[in-house]
Amino acid sequence: MRLYRAKNYEDMSRKAANIISAQVIMKPDCVLGLATGSTPIGTYKQLIEWYDKGDLDFSEVTTVNLDEYKGLPKENDQSYYYFMHENLFNHINLQKGRSFLPDGTEPDSEKACSNYNAVIRQVGGIDLQLLGIGRNGHIGFNEPDDHFSLETHCVDLTPSTIDANKRFFEKEEDVPRQAYTMGIKTIMQAKKVLLVASGEDKAKALYDSFYGPVTPSVPASILQYHKNVYVVADEAALSMIP
Ligand code: GLP
Repeated sequence: MRLYRAKNYEDMSRKAANIISAQVIMKPDCVLGLATGSTPIGTYKQLIEWYDKGDLDFSEVTTVNLDEYKGLPKENDQSYYYFMHENLFNHINLQKGRSFLPDGTEPDSEKACSNYNAVIRQVGGIDLQLLGIGRNGHIGFNEPDDHFSLETHCVDLTPSTIDANKRFFEKEEDVPRQAYTMGIKTIMQAKKVLLVASGEDKAKALYDSFYGPVTPSVPASILQYHKNVYVVADEAALSMIP
């Protein structure tokens, strides 16, 4: 694991955007695995700024997102489809039909998941996977469990995740209880992984993930076995790390 220490959220965002830019510049037709949540928003803003300046070109890039709430229509402003369009896709020259997310509107979980696995296979796998981290060490929506998941699957969100995500919804009851998420095996098959973390409430998850035992009860800990992991975190998130 290569750790980049950032001073604050802005610094973290710029450093992470630099790594993504390097990927796009070195391999213009790369496949980027993308993430939602509040942490990557600054990274996306920075990429948009560099795109506007003419420093970045996404015309050959393909994107696959980690996860999507089950049951939210695409136009719901809390769907990850909506989030990605608002925060990135509408502002860069990604080609139509080159960005993929699990289909949260598909009620048949098996169908939604196998379709998404087929998409990931068709695009040829992921060159660089961007990840945030949940307060309980989840990545994508791979929640703490007694085993590591494989490919895309439907998950029941834990009370801790529902609690963390309720700030985006009017009331807690509105937070979907299930989601489709890329599995741990698929994430581990990405050639490179870039994990971003900001704020004190991520300090323990970050410490447990990279300095504790590898265990499915801390899903991100599996990344200790990945050969190319870049962690960009700010001082607050690194406060438990020596
Ligand atoms: C959600 C997403 C994760 C994300 C996590 C942390 O549960 N499914 O991909 O990493 O939240 O979000 P935030 O960055 O807002 O703390």
